[in-house]
Amino acid sequence: MAQYSSQKVWHRNVLRATQLLSFKNEHRRNTIFTKKAEKIYDQLYHRFDFDTSPFGYDIPYITWRKGKINRTIVSHAKKGKLLDNGGGYGFLNHFLDDPSYDYYNLDCSLEMLKYDKSNRRVLGWGEALPFKNESFETVVSGDVLEHVQDKLIYLQEAHRVLKRGGIFILNTPRTGWRRSYVRSAWFWIPLLSDFYSHVKKKAQKETPSPPVPDVPSDEVWLRKQLEALGYEIVVQSRTDNHLFVFTHAFWRRVADAFIDPGKYGHCAFFVCRKG
Ligand SMILES: C[S@@+](CC[C@H](N)C(=O)[O-])C[C@H]1O[C@@H](n2cnc3c(N)ncnc32)[C@H](O)[C@@H]1O
Repeated sequence: MAQYSSQKVWHRNVLRATQLLSFKNEHRRNTIFTKKAEKIYDQLYHRFDFDTSPFGYDIPYITWRKGKINRTIVSHAKKGKLLDNGGGYGFLNHFLDDPSYDYYNLDCSLEMLKYDKSNRRVLGWGEALPFKNESFETVVSGDVLEHVQDKLIYLQEAHRVLKRGGIFILNTPRTGWRRSYVRSAWFWIPLLSDFYSHVKKKAQKETPSPPVPDVPSDEVWLRKQLEALGYEIVVQSRTDNHLFVFTHAFWRRVADAFIDPGKYGHCAFFVCRKG
């Protein structure tokens, strides 16, 4: 018995030491990464003017593209405290026209946050949210997951700060979207799109972008991770006809009329309820 309990204590101590060590390493790794990444994101966004040309696109294009996604997001959001996790220049807030939403924008780039005119702007990281457990009715992650260093930690943190019964809304590029197009009558559009952006880049002699991660997610993998966190999946669909040719108004009309984002969408879209 004595041997058993001393073994147990030893085991517990080793476990604690390993946890402490891994916490230290994790913390160190994150600090090094965040210091570097803060600079990278600020450098990148310093190039754009989000008042007149967000991400280098014109306002009608951004309003069309992000407008569709943001309206879908708002239609699923719960009234109360809403965290826009990686909210950037706070475009989502323009779609929350009901005063019962309490909008918080957290982003790792000060350059981005300075364009947001809302009251609650927080400089921080989705992987280490500076909020207490169960603080928000809704957490939104719109086009952020593909950029974060550790997707699982980011998802866990969003889950932690969400109240029970709260809603998590996720939109992120998915793997295999090109394959869906290739199988459709629209297969030539991505080719045209790539060619167009290639020619545009050459003509503008763009300076290369800083190395920001941009990793699409597999929809099956994503669903598994969300379910493993204990979410009930309320909606799973696709959004977004984000192709460069659609910056032109004619192509936007074609996309709206013929290309169903639920089928061909570039992004995976999830609405989840925390049980
Ligand atoms: C493509 S923008 C999307 C902005 C906004 N959600 C929208 O839909 O308009 C990605 C944003 O995520 C932020 N971001 C990237 N990694 C992040 C992280 N680990 N934690 C918090 N914000 C992050 C970037 O600074 C940027 O503002």
